[in-house]
Amino acid sequence: MAKVKKVFVCTNCGATSPKWEGKCSSCGEWNTLQEEVLVKGSSSKQEKRKTWTSNDEVQLNKPVALPDIIAGDTPRLALPDQELNRVLGGGVVPGSLVLVGGQPGIGKSTLLLQTAMQAQAKVLYISGEESKEQIKMRADRIDNHQSECYILTETNTAKIFKHIQNVAPDIVIVDSIQTLSSPHIDSMPGSVSQVRDCAGELQRFAKETHISIFIIGHINKEGSIAGPKLLEHIVDAVLQFEGDQHYTYRILRTIKNRFGSTDEMGIYEMQANGLREVANPSELLLSQKDEDLSGSGIAATIEGMRPILIETQALVSTAVYGTPQRSATGFDLRRLSMLLAVLEKRGGFPFAQNDVFLNIAGGIRVDDPAIDLAIVSALISSLEDVSIPNNICFAGEVGLSGEIRAVNRVERRIQEAARLGFDQIFISKYNTKGLDPDRYDIKIVTLGKIDELYKLLFE
Ligand code: TYD
Ligand code: MG
Repeated sequence: MAKVKKVFVCTNCGATSPKWEGKCSSCGEWNTLQEEVLVKGSSSKQEKRKTWTSNDEVQLNKPVALPDIIAGDTPRLALPDQELNRVLGGGVVPGSLVLVGGQPGIGKSTLLLQTAMQAQAKVLYISGEESKEQIKMRADRIDNHQSECYILTETNTAKIFKHIQNVAPDIVIVDSIQTLSSPHIDSMPGSVSQVRDCAGELQRFAKETHISIFIIGHINKEGSIAGPKLLEHIVDAVLQFEGDQHYTYRILRTIKNRFGSTDEMGIYEMQANGLREVANPSELLLSQKDEDLSGSGIAATIEGMRPILIETQALVSTAVYGTPQRSATGFDLRRLSMLLAVLEKRGGFPFAQNDVFLNIAGGIRVDDPAIDLAIVSALISSLEDVSIPNNICFAGEVGLSGEIRAVNRVERRIQEAARLGFDQIFISKYNTKGLDPDRYDIKIVTLGKIDELYKLLFE
């Protein structure tokens, strides 16, 4: 008889505890412990392997001297989707396990079904969420049917591994990890032990068969349903699909990548016939307007390795209630408060009596500190109700004493601004080292403090 054992598992980090606790002793999160039933005695390692290895011989895994290992330049499988290739570090590595996370409804299934249908490879798309007919309906909306793509609706990992061996695909897509269940574990699909174990089985499977596997994982706002931390260390790469549901732009960021850089980012636009790659993001993120309006500043940011020009919009209005409101979309609210405090203290601008609303175009979240200068300009522009000419853009970080600080890769930003036809770019005066202004077809304005900004723009 199998021995039934109960444990409490943290849904954030996966740590176990024999008794319930309010706070996880491992990661410190509150209220994350859930009871789970483990069946001991039936899930020895040997049996686990049986679920998919046809021949059970133990592979002799002897230690090998480092120089004797041939790195075997395993070619990556390039996908037709350039954005996805970019975030993966130049294509799919055979035998890799990639997690694509994101909130429900953001477009994860669409992205991977589209990839499955367009890849020049044999792909098996396994869904535990939708029926074959539903997938077919989605597929009909997406154009470009080229590849050999098989659909399987199954959630039992043992059966899944058998099917994969029969089909022998190059790429497997699993939608989603939360629906899988391993026959060796007794807890519910989506529970911590199931998710962790199924991911572990998939990882071993991928490594030994050299089939690349993409898994979709739902992440809610708190990241609590089988939190990303739980899976992050099991998989080879974590891609996060994000964006505002009310906008059509979607961003695919690399959070972790064992085979490439984590600086990369891909941009898509959700359309009626699937996700379209956005090769030239700047041209879309700059709103087309004829007249100059106050409260708008254009930032030359770098997202991943690509320069992107993004419009920031600010609205400053007299506060109706005692405590002024501050609200920001796509930007850190605390950083906005910091910038307002700097403007108040170092520039003497009366923001304390005003409501401030800030918006980054396209619903895109920007982490690049170089956006500060554009935001500060937009804020002053709205406060003074004087517009900034739309042939000017900005790239600079604002420090606590009101100084404009240097930003990285300034040449790339200047080039992109020049390419898009801007006439002037404002940068920090500390950013000019090694910069030859004559090389660019744009006027470079340098400044050291925020009060200079006011003089340059509005006087
Ligand atoms: P979906 O891929 O189902 O999201 P997830 O798997 O992350 O939960 O897609 C969600 C949204 O995308 C859905 O609201 C409909 C929209 N959509 C389009 O706009 N165009 C399309 O071609 C498809 C397939 C979906
Ligand atoms: Mg889905």
